Amino acid sequence: MMVHVENFMVWTKVAEKGSIQIGKGEEFDVNGKKIAIFNKDGLHALDAMCAHQNNSIACGEIEGDIVECPYHSWHYNIKTGDLQDYLKGIKQQTYKVEVKDDGIYIDI
Ligand code: FES
Repeated sequence: MMVHVENFMVWTKVAEKGSIQIGKGEEFDVNGKKIAIFNKDGLHALDAMCAHQNNSIACGEIEGDIVECPYHSWHYNIKTGDLQDYLKGIKQQTYKVEVKDDGIYIDI
């Protein structure tokens, strides 16, 4: 795994450029954490494990900015990580994403 430190950000390479289909998400294991990256109006990275029962939201359907957990349909905003239904104040951690010449990096 390639790591690049710059202005107190730690960029970790997670995927090759163009490897995440438009309109889809993919899950990556980054330093032992499951991270979902969605390719919808740019790339958006957030914790992949649903706050409900710890299943991955990475392969959920996306509509607008919202991904639906494939297990029991909780909804999250892919840009902010905010849960949209059921409970107030639940938020998946989000990570900055940058596409560099040699791949897709996140700040983690
Ligand atoms: S595990 Fe995501 S809604 Fe149940």
